[in-house]
Amino acid sequence: MSLNSLSAIPPYVFYELDARRNRQRAAGKSLIDVGIGSPDGPIPDVVIEAMQRAAADRALSGYPYFRAHPAYTAAVAAYMQARFGVTLDPVAELLALAGSKEGIAELILSHTNPGDVVLVPEVYYPVYARATLLAGAVPVFVPFLPDGRLDLEAVAPADLARARVMIVNYPGNPTTSTISLQDYAQLVSFAERHGLLLISDLAYSELSFDGYRVPSVLQVPGASRVAVETHTCSKSFNMAGVRIAFVAGKREAIAQLDAYRSNIGYGVSTLAQLAGTAAFTHHEAIVPPIVAEYRTRRNALVAAMQAGGWDVQAPQATMYLWLPVPAGYDDWGWVDALLEGPGVVVTPGIAFGEAGRGRFRVSLVQPADVLTTAAAAISAIAAAAPTP
Ligand SMILES: Cc1ncc(COP(=O)(O)O)c(C=O)c1O
Repeated sequence: MSLNSLSAIPPYVFYELDARRNRQRAAGKSLIDVGIGSPDGPIPDVVIEAMQRAAADRALSGYPYFRAHPAYTAAVAAYMQARFGVTLDPVAELLALAGSKEGIAELILSHTNPGDVVLVPEVYYPVYARATLLAGAVPVFVPFLPDGRLDLEAVAPADLARARVMIVNYPGNPTTSTISLQDYAQLVSFAERHGLLLISDLAYSELSFDGYRVPSVLQVPGASRVAVETHTCSKSFNMAGVRIAFVAGKREAIAQLDAYRSNIGYGVSTLAQLAGTAAFTHHEAIVPPIVAEYRTRRNALVAAMQAGGWDVQAPQATMYLWLPVPAGYDDWGWVDALLEGPGVVVTPGIAFGEAGRGRFRVSLVQPADVLTTAAAAISAIAAAAPTP
């Protein structure tokens, strides 16, 4: 990696959004921030108690385990078994991560050489392409089919020949698309046929509604020959600030990530791992009220947008609505109109790649009544759109 690869990367759109938001705040404007998907709910009590115990434990003065604390991998393995029926070897098939964003970046960096291709969904969580560029590798964007599946036929044979890694994300941020186990099985066999490491980003494993349960790619028989899956406590347990996640699956890939990481770090904070241990141990009690709150918010926001004339369906999963920018605005023009007018902060679609242009994302990170207010303000600005 060189400074050249860093300078080849365009500025992070969320940074730009932050700057624009802060300018408004500095000017004294009160804002409704539904831009970044940062949970506003509290850390669960049982997790706070575990963190308090860990903080008071004088025996935790040493460096963490390189791979993971055994209590953490035991809790994660039990969770994967209970939730997905997936049996994991807690030593060889699991690794603690300080967040799945960092983990996905490290997976890409430890599995690509300069010039390799990484297959990335055309609308994507930014780290997929950015870590690829940092590695000196080349992101090749795979288009979506209308139903949200990836159009694998569209990948050029020359790109496929150079591809080492493929990343998928269902339920998707920002698209909210979901996947069936049958479609996961197709991705696994595609990865196997073309010698790819399949990275499945399962950041929204628990945030699903109306009886829909999110599947794991590791439920596909033989998936762990080619696939790893990242999970995080950030969304499911309101723990984004704690920075605790894990990767599970293909043991050779986990060993390679471990080898890479041992050169640059000391593993993940023991305190964070013990917090994660409490979260996964008590997932059955913690998750339902968090999901119920997001469901209330989703219903309120969808109803208010529909009342404002938007053609929008309630997503089955995630904490987002992914909406078209009204005619008459470009992406930043629309974001600025909402920011400078009613003070609503949304994320422009281009934060998620060129194919996201023409859309914007609203996050369910405010109470239902505030989302209803935001929806009315968004609809009013849309109705006053300049003539194209
Ligand atoms: C799809 C997706 N993956 C990964 C992450 C990062 O999560 P973490 O907090 O574990 O780094 C996010 C956060 O918004 C996300 O939306």
